[in-house]
Amino acid sequence: MDEINRAKNLAAKHAYNMILPSHNIIGIGTGSTVEKLIEILGANKEVFQDKVFVASSLDTALKLRSYGFKVLSTSMIDEIDIYIDGADEVDRDMNMIKGGGAAHVLEKILAYYSKERIYIVDYTKKVDYLGQKHPVPIEVLPEALYPVYNKLSRLGYKVKIRLSGKGKYGVVISDTRGAVIDLYLDRQVDPVKLDNILLNIPGVVGTGLFIGLADKIIIGYSDHVEVMEK
Ligand code: 5RP
Repeated sequence: MDEINRAKNLAAKHAYNMILPSHNIIGIGTGSTVEKLIEILGANKEVFQDKVFVASSLDTALKLRSYGFKVLSTSMIDEIDIYIDGADEVDRDMNMIKGGGAAHVLEKILAYYSKERIYIVDYTKKVDYLGQKHPVPIEVLPEALYPVYNKLSRLGYKVKIRLSGKGKYGVVISDTRGAVIDLYLDRQVDPVKLDNILLNIPGVVGTGLFIGLADKIIIGYSDHVEVMEK
């Protein structure tokens, strides 16, 4: 296993050990690091037979179902006991960029309604400021895709409409039926101000800026983990 996969695995194992017997409703995010967590859950499935999972994407729901776990629709959640997800970037204030897998709208909803939010990342996700390595994903109603794209360009932002790889030609449409615009930053900006600017544009459904939505971030390295907490 390469260094990054070892780091992801260690972060996932650490988060797995934070799931308590009292955690009955467990929210699970999306991505390759979360996939490692799901594999660990699957290897211990007898412990989780009576638990209810809430998934932030169809992909995660299918993976959880493949182990026979109960998956509750996100439209029925009241409160989630613990939510575990990955991230694309993590700054020193525990703010994050998410949405590399275009699942950020549901991920933010699950994080918001959770009592405890834990993120698992490998060491490459640590940045000095948000936007240093990854663009900020913006989910947009397909009906407003070009107007929003145009508006952001006119405001001076470098933006690209996210296109799919193999399996679908053209624009990515998320599980929540939105298109995604990626906004590339070439300098440090105030993430709260940027988020407000973006959310004020009609047609924008949500952004991948996760501000104040983390209680713990577990950063995996090849042989240890670092835990950031509030
Ligand atoms: C999906 C996400 C993922 O959590 C994020 O992209 C990290 O994924 P990975 O663990 O594969 O690096 O936000 O929308």
